[in-house]
Amino acid sequence: IPTLVFSSSTQVARHAALIIEKLIRENNAAGKATVLGLATGSTPMGLYRELIRMHREEGLDFSRVISFNLDEYYPLAKEDTQSYHTFMHDNLFKHINIKPENIHIPNGEVKPEEIDDFCLKYEQAIRRAGGLDVQILGIGRTGHIGFNEPGSTRTCRTRLVTLDPITRRDAAAGFFGEENVPHRAITMGVGTIMDSRKVLLMAYGEHKARIVQRTLENDLTEAVPASFLQRHQDATFLLDTAAAGELT
Ligand code: F6R
Repeated sequence: IPTLVFSSSTQVARHAALIIEKLIRENNAAGKATVLGLATGSTPMGLYRELIRMHREEGLDFSRVISFNLDEYYPLAKEDTQSYHTFMHDNLFKHINIKPENIHIPNGEVKPEEIDDFCLKYEQAIRRAGGLDVQILGIGRTGHIGFNEPGSTRTCRTRLVTLDPITRRDAAAGFFGEENVPHRAITMGVGTIMDSRKVLLMAYGEHKARIVQRTLENDLTEAVPASFLQRHQDATFLLDTAAAGELT
């Protein structure tokens, strides 16, 4: 997997933002939509800050952008401060001119008996939009992409999953205690991510160095779902020096 190492997370964010900016501007000029797969968590925050700056200062127009987020905790109300719905509006959508009807985030409020139908429709909506042009990813310490935890298969699609205990522990601070972290989530599948025409995985910090090393330098394995990206035709890892620290 092509890997670029930058001196700081700000540089990583800047690089990713320039790729997305170019794509949006080219599509806008051609009158076409740009379909973005988006992630939450600490990793993409700098990217979103830079995209907001480009919108405000450089006229980057999001009116033709269609977005699909990777995942949402389940069950969780959209208006909950911990929801990815809230995160995306606060950290990106509120500050740009994306159309509300073009925003898609898995719904943590759907009734249990309606989850399967919701997930099928999410996949259909991605396809109807023309497929993802680029998927932004972070990586969990378990090797998850989206919330596809170890054991996820190459072909899995959007579905309800159970979170790994390590993932729930890593989310504990945001929920004021591990006991408040939902046990489940709705996530795009590995297959959904693999269908994206381009993938940009970002990782920062020493705590990601080990899983980045296992993903890039070991054989492909279900035990590290991010390693499926070894088979993607256009995936790039964007790392800061700390996250690249265990690469040989
Ligand atoms: C978030 C997501 C997760 C995170 C990963 C890293 O939508 O799908 O895979 O990207 O857990 O989280 P951070 O960036 O907080 O270290």
